[in-house]
Amino acid sequence: MKFFIDTADVEEIKDLASTGMVDGVTTNPSLAAASGKSFLDLIAEICTVVEGPVSAEVTATDFETMMKEAAVLRKIAPNVAIKVPLIPDGLKCCKALSDDGVMVNVTLCFSANQALLAAKAGAAFISPFVGRLDDIAVDGMNLIDEICEVYANYDFSTEVLVASIRHPMHILEAARMGAHVATMPPKTLRQLYKHPLTDKGLEGFLADWAKSGQSILGN
Ligand code: E4P
Repeated sequence: MKFFIDTADVEEIKDLASTGMVDGVTTNPSLAAASGKSFLDLIAEICTVVEGPVSAEVTATDFETMMKEAAVLRKIAPNVAIKVPLIPDGLKCCKALSDDGVMVNVTLCFSANQALLAAKAGAAFISPFVGRLDDIAVDGMNLIDEICEVYANYDFSTEVLVASIRHPMHILEAARMGAHVATMPPKTLRQLYKHPLTDKGLEGFLADWAKSGQSILGN
């Protein structure tokens, strides 16, 4: 499973990229606006830190303007994935860009039928938002299960990019379902390392080792 981080905080991206766990980055207009940086500069900077796909979202809602925005964004770096919303013009844009060899991430997916449309439009990634479904008392992970099943039936190449992740259980369940990618906030990636028995066990080992008076480095 690939791990993307869902943030526009470049310091966080640099820090987590150094762990070797980050395969890509997703941003959205809300995250980009909150960064306070120029959007094009922000995406260019992220692309210097991460080699994998960096999703940059168009903000127009009509086909012509989306295509113009995509033309600007795709020039930033070869690893930019153009993110388009799951609306008719967004999928039209997805088809045109995909036919031209551009990676497209179709975002704001809330149903398996929408995911089917995105795959038919040639999307490289479909982003179903699990947390936002959970928020309205609909099981977000059930959507991932449905999409994985449908995609497997037809051998689509579109990767299931589980988005709007709120906690580590979303990641574990997505991995068990065989989703290709999970995009998560930095905090959630850090949570994956944690287990109280790891901390307790290490504390015990180190306390016992200290009593031995030895040092592996010999000083
Ligand atoms: C994904 O691409 C989106 O940016 C993101 O996962 C949305 O998450 P949220 O529902 O926590 O805002």
